[in-house]
Amino acid sequence: RIKIVTIGGGSSYTPELIEGYIKRKDELPIGEIWLVDIEEGKDKLEIVGNLAKRMVKEAGLDWEVHLTLDRREALKGADFVSTQFRVGLLDARIKDERIPLSHGVMGQETNGAGGMFKAFRTIPVILEIVEDMKELCPDAWLVNFTNPSGMVAEAVLKYGKFEKVVGLCNVPIMHNMMESKVIGKKPEDLYFQYGGLNHHHWHRVFDREGNEVTEQIMDKIFNQDENTVQNITSIPFFEEQIRDLGMLPCAYHRYYYLTDDMLKKELEEFAKGETRAEVVKKVEAELFELYKDPNLKEKPEQLTKRGGAYYSDAACELISSIYNDKKTDMVVSTRNNGALADLPYDCAVEVSSIITAAGPKPMNFGKFPPAERGLLQVMKAMEEVTIEAAVTGDYGKALQAFTLNPLVPSGKVAKVILDEMLVAHKKHLPQF
Ligand code: NAD
Ligand code: G6P
Ligand code: MN
Ligand code: MN
Repeated sequence: RIKIVTIGGGSSYTPELIEGYIKRKDELPIGEIWLVDIEEGKDKLEIVGNLAKRMVKEAGLDWEVHLTLDRREALKGADFVSTQFRVGLLDARIKDERIPLSHGVMGQETNGAGGMFKAFRTIPVILEIVEDMKELCPDAWLVNFTNPSGMVAEAVLKYGKFEKVVGLCNVPIMHNMMESKVIGKKPEDLYFQYGGLNHHHWHRVFDREGNEVTEQIMDKIFNQDENTVQNITSIPFFEEQIRDLGMLPCAYHRYYYLTDDMLKKELEEFAKGETRAEVVKKVEAELFELYKDPNLKEKPEQLTKRGGAYYSDAACELISSIYNDKKTDMVVSTRNNGALADLPYDCAVEVSSIITAAGPKPMNFGKFPPAERGLLQVMKAMEEVTIEAAVTGDYGKALQAFTLNPLVPSGKVAKVILDEMLVAHKKHLPQF
């Protein structure tokens, strides 16, 4: 039977995962689930872990659910390792958002300076996990959710030299759900073709008759208040610009296509002490209050207030597809290998792929028109330099990465923000 390990098990998202495994109980012969956390997350692990145990019991399953702070013990002989940790917890995210905003610059957890610092804190930890895996479960698959998910996957491939890694995100699923609904279809009746980077991809959509319905979806979404994910304000895109793209952007493209409006909104939230991280802190406290209730035996509805809702559909389906060689069509972060002709072969891209027992096989997306290509190549270069800075701790490289990032203004302000963040996050940045 299978042993699954989740690192960052104390996350409030864990009931999503457990629900996803329970749904797939007939296709996934699970024996053990190990939820791993660290001292700082001990209380969260205890609460959410006990809910996980109740959920499994309620479903009448004999799976062992272990809660531990001993990562190496958990990894021994694992088949799948999923990662969903946040180095420095939400307090670090508050700094990622508030420090850039205090200088009038976008503060977002996966975009701009904040996302880059999340990479600086996370990459050294994921590389340690990979070293443990090589020793304790060399054949296991690493299923990563930890943001910035695409950069983390690339770091594992390039610097961890570990091939069996897949990066995941719930955004494509959320788009599939929303877009099929607006044209009165079900997601399974449509074919979605995605290409780009994590939180920076575009897609086209086709129906069962083979007609492209991308424009038809655009007709609808410009006439309604479309909300893809909870954490992103759904300010409408400029219709003419999106028509010109010829593809549907992802929700996160608002930070790049509507920068001034998004920044204005963030600055208002900042002034009220209501950045997304601060809001999430409250949602999380509410969720953990619910989780403590011994009568709660299922994933509560309130979890849909988190931006990552439905991510278990991605994680559990991916695990089942690899285990059962299902050849499912999924959007994952994986090595490009030429699928996106505009990017290096060895980088990670987020792309529609066929999931086999040998992992994701990305489908060819080809070349992008110049409008997409320009931004895509800058963003990839920014990611490559950010990852290199995270690995080496090189100050010049970090500044270089800030310059490449379209959301960080170059010059003195970049240096001031970089310096302030290096001090604020010092505890979690041993490499700098
Ligand atoms: P969180 O703040 O609740 O952190 C999750 C857990 O990680 C905490 O219990 C914490 O103690 C633990 N942790 C921190 N450092 C650790 C370490 N070194 N080893 C083991 N555990 C450690 O975070 P969250 O809001 O639940 O999000 C978890 C992660 O998942 C974040 O990185 C977030 O960005 C990511 N996420 C990604 C997606 C996606 O689409 N890819 C969706 C949702 C969340
Ligand atoms: C989703 C993203 C995740 C991100 C989450 C944030 O849109 O796919 O990568 O972590 O939202 O949600 P939160 O509730 O933490 O703001
Ligand atoms: Mn995501
Ligand atoms: Mn810049």
